[in-house]
Amino acid sequence: MSRTPPAPPLAEQVAELLARPGPLPLVTAGDPVLRRPAEPFEGQLDDALLGRFVAALRETMHAAPGVGVAAPQVGVGLRIAVLEDPAEVDAEVREARGRVPLPFRVLVNPVYEAVDGERAAFFEGCLSVPGYQAVVARHARVRLRALDGRGRAVVEEYAGWPARIVQHETDHLGGTLYLDRAEPRSLVSAPQAPRWTQPTPHAAARALGFDLPPEPEPR
Ligand code: CO
Repeated sequence: MSRTPPAPPLAEQVAELLARPGPLPLVTAGDPVLRRPAEPFEGQLDDALLGRFVAALRETMHAAPGVGVAAPQVGVGLRIAVLEDPAEVDAEVREARGRVPLPFRVLVNPVYEAVDGERAAFFEGCLSVPGYQAVVARHARVRLRALDGRGRAVVEEYAGWPARIVQHETDHLGGTLYLDRAEPRSLVSAPQAPRWTQPTPHAAARALGFDLPPEPEPR
């Protein structure tokens, strides 16, 4: 007796998500999919479905709007994320945060490592934790290893805000939210956010009572 093998569940799940047009619904903190390490991508989606999924992630990121979306944020436990930051900020913010434009990127099975010991601390937020932001001290520079959307190996170094985005999105794929790495006393709820839009979090650190990493030596 022969039986048709069951359809791969992840492919089925993604096909179902893509059946409806428009941005994908985002899942928020408290959904276990955000806390499970995602599965390495090993062809669970065929090329056509992967291409459509990546396009939908990009549309979702633009609609939010955000500068990155990881597959678990749309409920899909695969190690895939998209990044893109037009960095439309004023010159003072750009300088202080290293917020330079990041062209669209697809990351498949990304891992990162610190390039050196320097850390940079700034407020960040997450589409899966709506209404809050907090200060996270992250590696100032990272080396990223990943595959791109066509399966080609990529090794790149990132600094400034792009390095922060790479770490934030890659962390999602390991079940880590930015809050896990944040200064708890820096947590800011939406009504208070207008107070803390300065280019750096120094004033917030003094007023709310949390520490920042040491200033880097001039390079
Ligand atoms: Co996030």
